[in-house]
Amino acid sequence: MEHRAHHGHSDVDWASAAESLDLDGEVLGSTLRDVTASLGVLAPSARRILDLGCGTGTGTFALAATFPAAHILAVDGSAALLAHLQSRADGLGIDQRVTTLQADLDQMWPEIGPIDVTWAGMSLHHFADPDRVLVDVRRSTRPGGVVAVFEMDGPLRFLPDGGLGDVESRCYAVSEQQHAAAMPHRGADWAPRLERAGFVDVQVHRIVIDLRAPLHPLTGRYAQRSLQGLRAAVAGRVPADDLAVLDSLLAGDALLHREDLNIRGARTLWTGRRAG
Ligand SMILES: C[S@@+](CC[C@H](N)C(=O)[O-])C[C@H]1O[C@@H](n2cnc3c(N)ncnc32)[C@H](O)[C@@H]1O
Repeated sequence: MEHRAHHGHSDVDWASAAESLDLDGEVLGSTLRDVTASLGVLAPSARRILDLGCGTGTGTFALAATFPAAHILAVDGSAALLAHLQSRADGLGIDQRVTTLQADLDQMWPEIGPIDVTWAGMSLHHFADPDRVLVDVRRSTRPGGVVAVFEMDGPLRFLPDGGLGDVESRCYAVSEQQHAAAMPHRGADWAPRLERAGFVDVQVHRIVIDLRAPLHPLTGRYAQRSLQGLRAAVAGRVPADDLAVLDSLLAGDALLHREDLNIRGARTLWTGRRAG
């Protein structure tokens, strides 16, 4: 699809990543709902929520469930992803509670008025200057309001321990080096940066993901999409034997029928509050 990331330091095609974003939201849905539920405890009376770099709305829809009385402003630079989010909101019958706004947050900060909760799910590390964005978030936050930064600690692993898992690990070690060069804020510790942006009561929660059978029925498809992306990233950069293993896993729909997949990884939630 035609939309390209707009932040200048990545050539990721976000529109074609829409399926992966949706799969992540589906397959890890219960983890995400637990995380947004913890925000419900921090900000029980939130009415205006901002989903920053919302993508296809994984965070938007989890937040809509946690905060049934809230309105959610979903902001992203990609018109294609926002259109996808809007049609999902229509399908769920919550279009009255969700507003989409296209904005390149590297270039500008939209006039959005006081916000009770801002959610930045796997988006902050994409911005050219996330510290400036965090200052803008704090300025737009109502006194006492909450910011939540949710980031992955690394890619999810699907292949079983041992030979296949070792190939997956070796390939990710190579692709992660490339990501680190393209996105220097990936893997950052956001706690001191939230404090520097003026937030208080900063808390960190690491969420370990270790899901075994029975897994969500879309797990095979998510593994397939992830390993296709991995294969494209490491072609020519890893030993031919490792590439051949990835190719055999990706042949046809083999991954959709494997019964030995699991899901391992970790994500971290940072929260902060604007002083009241
Ligand atoms: C990895 S996706 C995460 C999407 C969603 N929050 C989720 O958790 O599934 C990162 C999102 O940030 C958006 N993004 C990246 N740079 C941006 C920018 N400068 N302005 C606005 N959105 C941006 C991308 O379009 C993409 O939707």
